Order: sequence, then structure tokens, then C-alpha cells
Amino acid sequence: MKTFIFPGSFDPFSLGHLDIAKRASNLCDKLVVAVMINRSKTSLFTVEERVEMARICLADVPNIEVISRETLLVDLYQELGASAVVRGLRSESDFRYEAEMNAANTLLLPKYQVVFLPCRADLAFTSSSIIKEVAYYGGDISRMVVPAVEEMVHQKLLSNKESKS
Ligand code: PNS
Repeated sequence: MKTFIFPGSFDPFSLGHLDIAKRASNLCDKLVVAVMINRSKTSLFTVEERVEMARICLADVPNIEVISRETLLVDLYQELGASAVVRGLRSESDFRYEAEMNAANTLLLPKYQVVFLPCRADLAFTSSSIIKEVAYYGGDISRMVVPAVEEMVHQKLLSNKESKS
């Protein structure tokens, strides 16, 4: 049983994430999409909301499970007996960040393996931060997220604005 982990902050879960998850699910028996904490980022959505979004997006893929963990990635890797972690690569700057994370994770757990999948070219320059920025200013994010996530982003921004006023 080959288990891969696709970890991320997924704030929100985008079409780019969906594409990587679906392609990665063809490379293993089970893909665990893990909503995790990136301490260098401030999240718009709660972990529970991010899990819900990923579950909605991936509901039709049978060998994918969505979980959340507030641990080190290498601890989850051990817990699941994973064979590899999957990460999407968009650009050179992604590669630098991923190389650093890979080096740290390999120091912590020498058997740690990562598989990099190149992003779909048309989604190469979208990111969760850009999606939030575009939505904040009323821009169209319909080509970056599925409709249910688009609705959740709008609702969240609206409720944040209401609670500030
Ligand atoms: O989508 P992101 O924000 O690029 O994902 C980064 C994430 C969540 C995979 C990374 O921050 C992570 O692995 N967090 C868990 C804690 C951990 O293991 N940190 C050390 C990584 S070097």
C-alpha cells in the first residue's frame, strides 16, 4: 500500500491544488491531503473550513482522504507510514522554498521522500495569496477556485468586513 501525503495550508483550496491532488492520486494507492500549519502565514480560513473546502473539491476522487494535523510533517509521515510527500512546483522561487523544506525534512527524517509535480501552465501564477487579494478587491476568482470555494471566500471576506465595521 503506497501512501503519499499532499500537505499544505490550502487557504483557500485552489484549482491548482485540485489538479496536483488528482494527478498525485494516480501515482499512489492512497493520497492523504493534509491541511497543516505554516507558521509564516496568517490564514483567512480556520483549519476546519480548509478541510471542508478540500473535501468538497475532492469528493469524487475515491483514493483521497482529507485530514488536518498541527504537527511536524515528518511526524505525520511516520504516523502514516508514507512513501512520499507531493508538492506542486510553479516557479523557480517555489523551487528554492521547496528545496529548503526538503533539506530540513530530510535532516529530521532521512527516509523522507518528496515528489514534485509541475503545476498546470495556466495556473502557474495563481496562489492562495493572489486569490485572496483578487477577491478582496472584488475581482473574479472563478477561474482559480471551484464555485463552492468561491462562495466560501466571498462569505468569509464579507463576514470579516462586517465584524470590522
Ligand atoms: O501550502 P504551504 O503553506 O506552502 O505548506 C507548507 C506546509 C504546511 C507543508 C509546511 O509549513 C509544513 O510542513 N508545516 C508543518 C510543520 C513542519 O513540519 N514544518 C517544517 C517544515 S521544514
